[in-house]
Amino acid sequence: MTPAPSAFRDEAMIALLTAARVVPVITIERVEDAVPLARALVAGGVRTLEITLRTAAAVAAAEAIIAQVPEAIVGIGTVLTPMDLARAKALGAKFALSPGATPDLLDAAAEGDLPFVPGIATASELMAALARGFSIYKFFPAQQAGGIPALRALGGPFPQARFCPTGGIGEANAAEWLAEPNVIAVGGSWLCPTADIRAGNWDKITGLARRAMQ
Ligand code: 3PG
Repeated sequence: MTPAPSAFRDEAMIALLTAARVVPVITIERVEDAVPLARALVAGGVRTLEITLRTAAAVAAAEAIIAQVPEAIVGIGTVLTPMDLARAKALGAKFALSPGATPDLLDAAAEGDLPFVPGIATASELMAALARGFSIYKFFPAQQAGGIPALRALGGPFPQARFCPTGGIGEANAAEWLAEPNVIAVGGSWLCPTADIRAGNWDKITGLARRAMQ
């Protein structure tokens, strides 16, 4: 039997995150910071990047990285609506993530072919995404929503689910999360602190990336 297109899309997403292991959640305030920041992360071995749609500069920043940093694998985060998803696809992102899982967004993602990670914090949200063929989820906000014990509990009824937890994850606890059998990657903003982006501390960010990859 030929797998449904959704299976290919989900497999692509799982392969991408499994290879990445660590995904920086990036908020860019000034477009001109985008390319040096991406180069700093890539230099530290972190190639898979989540550019969040949280600032006016986000779309142009993602476009600049895609055009000028070919080693980077650019995804769009903070996708809240079908329109955000369409924008992510149009600008050439390789994948998209959302903090949540609204019916509209899940339907649009299920109809499209862009690898997509819906955000879930409860069994019902997970079930809504599962019903539309998604098997990889962002567990958000991971630490605040119950941490590793909550994720383990979700693993009981949903043994097939794979997770990329984000929210409250940093250098101190990333390895602990990654040791969970149903966690294929972790995300977080600790790799690109706002103050360091503002100050252009690119070497420091390369160092943070390198440490995370170890
Ligand atoms: C996200 O958007 O995924 C989270 O805000 C990242 O959370 P953190 O800032 O606690 O890493």
